[in-house]
Amino acid sequence: MTVSSQRSVRLTGWGRYAPAQVLTNADLERMVDTSDEWIVTRTGIRERHVAAAHETTASMGAIAGLRAIHTAGLQPDDIDLIIVATLSPDHWMPSTAALVKEAIGNTRAPAFDVAAACSGFVYGYATASAYIGAGLASNVLVIGAELLTRYLDYTDRGTCILFGDGAGAVVLSASDEPTSTVGIELTTDPQGAYMIWLPAGGSASPPSAETVARGEHKIRMEGRETYRFATRTLASTALAAVAKAGWTQDEVDLIIPHQANARIIEAVAKGLDLPMDRIFVNLDRYGNTSAASVPIALTEAVAEGRVKPGDKIVFVAFGAGFTSGAVALEWTEDPARARDADQVVRPEHVTVRKPVDWDSVDPIPPVLAEVLAKPLPGHMDLSDVVPGEPEHAHAHAPD
Ligand SMILES: CC(C)(COP(=O)(O)OP(=O)(O)OC[C@H]1O[C@@H](n2cnc3c(N)ncnc32)[C@H](O)[C@@H]1OP(=O)(O)O)[C@@H](O)C(=O)NCCC(=O)NCCS
Repeated sequence: MTVSSQRSVRLTGWGRYAPAQVLTNADLERMVDTSDEWIVTRTGIRERHVAAAHETTASMGAIAGLRAIHTAGLQPDDIDLIIVATLSPDHWMPSTAALVKEAIGNTRAPAFDVAAACSGFVYGYATASAYIGAGLASNVLVIGAELLTRYLDYTDRGTCILFGDGAGAVVLSASDEPTSTVGIELTTDPQGAYMIWLPAGGSASPPSAETVARGEHKIRMEGRETYRFATRTLASTALAAVAKAGWTQDEVDLIIPHQANARIIEAVAKGLDLPMDRIFVNLDRYGNTSAASVPIALTEAVAEGRVKPGDKIVFVAFGAGFTSGAVALEWTEDPARARDADQVVRPEHVTVRKPVDWDSVDPIPPVLAEVLAKPLPGHMDLSDVVPGEPEHAHAHAPD
């Protein structure tokens, strides 16, 4: 790859994928001492998607990625860099991005993962923009994909109610037109390093029978400290990106924040002095999908007609690290281009290759499998659901 002068960066493709299975707050009431009322009041979350046993972070990311490539009007081999933001990779090695590259049928792109927790998609977006600006790539696929339901402690009501599975993706392309990405801000505050973390499995504490017995392979969180960080940081990070874009905050048409908690999002609106109708919220149906939450929310915002060419949009996220990041961009594309992406790219056509001489143990935590296997009366019958089809699942859900 050769280096050329700075080039414009445009967001040309977008897509998302959510697994069919849904875990409601009523389901969680059967697992921990909680209530739908508590969860809705404190977080705004009503349900979250749960990946099926055959699904992985790479498989969900590949579906979202192919949908974004389709929306961009490109072929998989037009992509010359693949970045996957995730804190729940399929394996420690290889990167999830390498598995995604093969699954989408790309033969030419370098591929790597970005680790910045829930801010990962924004960090990946910034990395892709820098590659394009430097002339190192022309079409970059940036995916946020997470399978968090396999990393949760289903005896800890402070964390297991929050997170869900899914993937979202964008294609960023070099352009001769004026740039659509106009301001980026990233921050990292290591004082919060152990406020939300996963203690064991890394080199500081390799996996062992003892780390498993101590429950150290599951996400731990100081909820109040994380909440304080988020409410302190999100608005200021968004404002910094807006200032770099040369805008004032009242010019922003839509903020697409990380979907962690409705109260945090309301605090961002207050901090930015913007009405809630200029903030996109879909966490009631997804929970916190970490690096996937912003690109999933973007794709839904476009599908719902909340975004049109010329709009000033801000993505803003925060997460473990503590990290935060924001991107200010002007929307340039026809929203209708994504119309048929979900029909054209079917989950059943996307496969992630497995090693020939290895298979995983059953990946679904037993308590979760038990609840999913015995739906509450009135729940949809999952035996009838095509794996990986939220639309199909919803079509069968009771009113
Ligand atoms: C997790 C969070 C919802 C908890 O809400 P909170 O108002 O801070 O609640 P607290 O942790 O102070 O707990 C208050 C009480 O509710 C209880 N509680 C915690 N989780 C509960 C649950 N799911 N159901 C019922 N009660 C619960 C606590 O045990 C505590 O009880 P106590 O007063 O008897 O000790 C909130 O702190 C939060 O959203 N933090 C940010 C988390 C986040 O966004 N993480 C992702 C980062 S990317």
